[in-house]
Amino acid sequence: MTSFSETTQLPGTAPGATADPGTDTHFPAGFLWGAATSAYQIEGAAREDGRTPSIWDTFSHTPGRTAAGDTGDVACDHYHRYRDDVALMSELGLGAYRFSVSWPRVQPTGRGPAVQRGLDFYRALVDELLAAGITPVLTLYHWDLPQELEDAGGWPVRRTAERFADYAGIVAEALGDRVPLWTTLNEPWCSAFLGYGSGVHAPGRTDPVAALRAAHHLNLAHGLATQALRAALPSHARVTVGLNPAVVRARSETPADLDAARRIDALATRVFTGPMLHGAYPEDLFTDTAALTDWSFVHDGDTALAHQRLDGLCLNYYTPTVVSAAPEGTATERHDGHGASPHSPWPGADHVSFHQPPGERTEMGWSIDPEGLTELLLRFHGEAPGLPLYITENGAACPDVPDAAGRFHDPQRIAYVRRHVAAVHRALAAGADVRGYFLWSLLDNFEWAYGYAKRFGMVHVDFATQARTPKASARWYARLARSGRLPR
Ligand code: NOJ
Repeated sequence: MTSFSETTQLPGTAPGATADPGTDTHFPAGFLWGAATSAYQIEGAAREDGRTPSIWDTFSHTPGRTAAGDTGDVACDHYHRYRDDVALMSELGLGAYRFSVSWPRVQPTGRGPAVQRGLDFYRALVDELLAAGITPVLTLYHWDLPQELEDAGGWPVRRTAERFADYAGIVAEALGDRVPLWTTLNEPWCSAFLGYGSGVHAPGRTDPVAALRAAHHLNLAHGLATQALRAALPSHARVTVGLNPAVVRARSETPADLDAARRIDALATRVFTGPMLHGAYPEDLFTDTAALTDWSFVHDGDTALAHQRLDGLCLNYYTPTVVSAAPEGTATERHDGHGASPHSPWPGADHVSFHQPPGERTEMGWSIDPEGLTELLLRFHGEAPGLPLYITENGAACPDVPDAAGRFHDPQRIAYVRRHVAAVHRALAAGADVRGYFLWSLLDNFEWAYGYAKRFGMVHVDFATQARTPKASARWYARLARSGRLPR
C-alpha cells in the first residue's frame, strides 16, 4: 500500500496554504465525513466461506452483460485486505465508513440460518473500524440478491420482501451491539427499474410490470426489515433508507414538458417516498401506468407497512435528469444516464425524452450540477420536516492518469466534490438538517455494467497488483474531513 502523505502539494493550492477563517465554510460539530463502498463492488472472495452466487455473479458471468466481461470475483479483494483498507481510512481521517453486507455471504440461499463465517467477516470489519474511531454505517442491501431468491421469482414476488426481513433480523442480532447507523436498501430504484425494466443491471429482465412489482416489494421489504431491525437493535441505533431521488428538470415551461417532469418524478422518486414517507402511492403513478397494470399486487395494509418511523433519510446524488415531452413512441433517444438498452427503465413514459444538458460532464457522461444537490436536500427538508438527512453518495468518475512518479492528480474530482460539498452547506444554511457526507467511493471498484473502466475512487486501485494509491483528491478530502471546513 502506498503511504499517504499530507505534504504532497495539491493541484491548485500552495503547500501549507491555510484558508482565511473569515471565508471558510464550516460544518457543524459532529457532521460525519465518510466514504462509501458496497460489498459486490469491492469484496471479491466470491466463492469463499460458504458464499453462494448473487444475481450480480450470475449477471456479470453472462457474456455481453458487463464491459470487457468484468466480474466482481476478485474486485478490490477487500475481503482479505479489509485491515489495510481500514488503516487507509484512518490515515485519511475519515469519521465514518458506509459499506454493505453481502446477503449471500450471510444467508447463502436467502433463507434459513446464517453462515457464521460470513457474519464473522462483518464483525471483524466493524471491530476494526470501531478500534480506529470510524463510525460504521451499514447497508443491508446493495443489489446482491441471492440467486436462489431470483430463481424463486426475485423482487417481483412478495416472498422476497419477507425473506429480506428475516435476513435483516439476522444481521441486526449479530451486529446490533456495535453498528449505530443502519440502512435497509440502497437505491431501490436501480434494483427495480434497471434490474427488471431496462435490464442493464442484474438480473437483466426487461418487463415493465415486473419492474413496478419489484418497486412495490422493495417498499414492503423496507417496511418489514425496519420492523425486524427495531425488534433486534438497541434503542439508540438509527434506521434509515438510501434513495436516489431524481432531480428532474423540465426542458421548458410548456405544460407538456412540465407534465413529462411530473411523470418521471413519480416513477423515479415518489414511487418510493410516497409509501415510505407518507404511507401511500401517489395517485398520478397509478394513472400514468394504468395501461400496464392495475397494481393489484399491492395488498391492503402494504403501504402502511412501508411507512415506518425513520431516523434519517440517506440520499445519493450525482446529476440531474432533464426531460421533455415527445410525441408518442418517438422518444427513442434516451440520455438518462442509466446505460444503453433498447428497453426503457421508465414504465408508461414512452413519450418522455431525456436530454444531456450542455456543459461539463464526468467520465460517466453525467452533467455536473451542484445546485441540484441543494435542491434535493431542500426538497426533503420541506417534505419530511425534522428528518435528519445524509448524503450517502456523491462523487465522480474521472480519467486518472499517473504522473512519472506514479502519483494520481485528479483535479476534476476535487472540483466536483468541492462544489457539491459547498452545495450541501448551502442547504444547511437554509435550514436543512444534514448530518453527513459520504464520498463515492473510497476505492476504484466494480462499477456494475461498466466494469472496472470507470474509476470513482479517491484511492486508486491497480487491479493487477491490488496496490492502493491515494489520489490527490484523497489528500484534499482528508483535510476537509479533519478540519470540518471547506476552504473557499
Ligand atoms: C450508485 C450506487 O449505489 C453505486 O453502487 C454506484 O457505484 C454509484 N452510484 C456510481 O454509479
